[in-house]
Amino acid sequence: MHKGIFITFEGPEGAGKTTVIAEIYKRLVAEGKKAILTREPGGIRISEKIRNIILDNEHQEMDGRTEALLYAAARRQHLVEKIIPALEEGNIVLCDRFVDSSLAYQGYARGLGMDEVMSINAFAIDNTMPDRTVYFDITPEEGLRRISKNDEREQNRLDNETLQFHHKVHEGYQLLIEKFPDRIVSTDASQPLSEVTENVWKIISSQLISNKNS
Ligand SMILES: Nc1ncnc2c1ncn2[C@@H]1O[C@H](COP(=O)(O)OP(=O)(O)O)[C@@H](O)[C@H]1O
Ligand SMILES: [Mg+2]
Repeated sequence: MHKGIFITFEGPEGAGKTTVIAEIYKRLVAEGKKAILTREPGGIRISEKIRNIILDNEHQEMDGRTEALLYAAARRQHLVEKIIPALEEGNIVLCDRFVDSSLAYQGYARGLGMDEVMSINAFAIDNTMPDRTVYFDITPEEGLRRISKNDEREQNRLDNETLQFHHKVHEGYQLLIEKFPDRIVSTDASQPLSEVTENVWKIISSQLISNKNS
């Protein structure tokens, strides 16, 4: 068992994950906690390269299983090179997306099957599952509206999917919340940024207390 705490953040595009996690990370560091902030499917050189292949707008012909396998490969390398060593050193690891994204996007929305996608990911993850997952709950319409307002943000291959696809992603996440009620906690991400941040901070704080007591 590792000494650290592994926390992942999930939810649709534009839910506010990246914005809120940056603030949570700052607060943890200000409190003198050992923490790292990383993202999926990147965070390290090889995985960032795989991410670029997956998200390239030119790669319209990419097969769904290829996409799922590439995500799992990027996840594996990221875990081995970065997440597991950080957990062994006792860090709080905040990770922007993890396996639930593959289950919701490739498993459910692309129709590859959640169990099938979980099985290739089980090989990649080798039992390093998050201690806690925070799900940012927002409608796809609201998430996409936020992204379209932000001109600086890149529109990648998955952002350009149809609204129907994003609805399927949302449904997939709802199934995951039902399937993993002890791990995944949902927060209302449609609230103003300051409220979402406070609610996520409460979830993280109580997770730190429960890890200390376990
Ligand atoms: N609670 C919020 N209310 C309004 N706008 C928000 C909120 N949270 C984030 N945003 C804005 O929405 C956009 C998407 O946020 P981002 O953190 O990139 O989402 P994600 O990482 O989940 O895709 C950004 O322009 C961000 O400033
Ligand atoms: Mg983001």
